[in-house]
Amino acid sequence: MSKIKKQFVCTNCGVVSPKWSGQCFDCNSWGTIAEEIVQQSTNALDMKKVNIERFDDQIDEIERIPTSISELDRVLGGGFVDGSVTLIGGDPGIGKSTLLLQLVAIMSKQLRCAYVTGEESSEQIKLRAKRLGYAGCASALVAASNIDSIILTLLDDTKNFEKKFDLVVIDSIQTMYSSEAGATPGSVTQIKLCTQALVNFAKQNNIIVVIVGHVTKDGQLAGPKLLEHMVDTVLYFEGDQYHHYRILRSVKNRFGAVNEIGVFEMSSNGLSEVVNPSEAFLMRRENNLSGTCVFAGIEGSRPLLVEIQALIAPSNMPMPKRSVVGWDSNRLAMILAVLCVRFGLNLSDKEVYLSVAGGLKLTEPGVDLAVCAALISAAYNIALPEASVFFGEVGLSGEIRKISQGELRLKESVKQGYKSVYSAPFVMIDTNNSTNEEKSKHGHHEIFHIKQLKNILNIKK
Ligand code: TYD
Ligand code: MG
Repeated sequence: MSKIKKQFVCTNCGVVSPKWSGQCFDCNSWGTIAEEIVQQSTNALDMKKVNIERFDDQIDEIERIPTSISELDRVLGGGFVDGSVTLIGGDPGIGKSTLLLQLVAIMSKQLRCAYVTGEESSEQIKLRAKRLGYAGCASALVAASNIDSIILTLLDDTKNFEKKFDLVVIDSIQTMYSSEAGATPGSVTQIKLCTQALVNFAKQNNIIVVIVGHVTKDGQLAGPKLLEHMVDTVLYFEGDQYHHYRILRSVKNRFGAVNEIGVFEMSSNGLSEVVNPSEAFLMRRENNLSGTCVFAGIEGSRPLLVEIQALIAPSNMPMPKRSVVGWDSNRLAMILAVLCVRFGLNLSDKEVYLSVAGGLKLTEPGVDLAVCAALISAAYNIALPEASVFFGEVGLSGEIRKISQGELRLKESVKQGYKSVYSAPFVMIDTNNSTNEEKSKHGHHEIFHIKQLKNILNIKK
């Protein structure tokens, strides 16, 4: 016996309330509360005993299936795991469908694959595959959006072929619907039901399922956070449409490390891997220009050199414009305050523009020093020392703090041909007993306070 009950769910954060309201009481967003019908089973006879297992039971090591796209393997932690569900989110047009089409085409040489699309027609997909040079792709192609019919068909097809599907791509979860729920495709109820059906399908049949998810304006996966909880791995495709570099980042991985990134380049032949991202994110410069600074960052386990660019322009506005691309604007406000009080550089009557080259988004605090150096260099119109790299966190009193993995950052800078590295002191691995002199031979200059940038840039005042 089942009882029908109404409830109200926020489409932004997924919080459930018994009453409708204009504003969500949890995440405070407006107009996001939607009605949902739930069927409650009141039948207690469904109950049966569950298995009790032990931690020391014999288990098999998890086996990974490499995809031969090494940047994707790196993000996944070595390849897909059988029976796992992976969600790929990203802005429209970023390349989710392209990447998955390439994945299916490559994997279908060794696995039985299916590409299910609810967004495009099968002709569109075939045309794209042909254009990318995968006309002979052995993968199955399904253009449908009823999730129950899709799962039924894929399972039924397994019986006919006597070989189950190994990899199924669903593009996208927002276009799928289940006839079990009365709601429209893309609603919270539908997304939840369809994802649950796919998770069960993957786990019960040991099939790798990859789901595409749309993101909302502010970059969250559309649908509640719940969607991220239900799957094993969540990857985000970052970058903007005006840059051809695309970054695939893992934000949740039940089988590997998070924050690992893979770098791709979008070209007329689809996405190709970027083997040396440090080179890619540095705009190669003829001359050493003022207002630019190279930062040695770490993304996941990989060091990455990135160029930070700053521009200071005069302004007549009471509140001059501050604009940041690829970094946190609150952090910029803090750095501007520190520069004003601790360094004596007042930019309150100037417009400040800051940009991370190549469309990368930086989140580590270690970029502070490079931002300071770029801003000071722009403000005084003096270029930083040639072939120099900066990294370190800047504290409110202007002191430079040590950040993690200094050795790795130093090594990458030296590898890329940089001569001087400025950061807070850290102990280098291979030169344990080295004196300061020896250290600077390796090109490492220790810096303790942003005031030292005056000497580095030869600022007289
Ligand atoms: P797509 O994979 O359809 O994006 P998503 O599924 O994330 O919405 O990518 C579409 C964009 O990529 C589109 O703007 C065109 C561009 N593109 C290329 O530049 N080269 C190519 O070979 C392909 C297939 C797409
Ligand atoms: Mg698409």
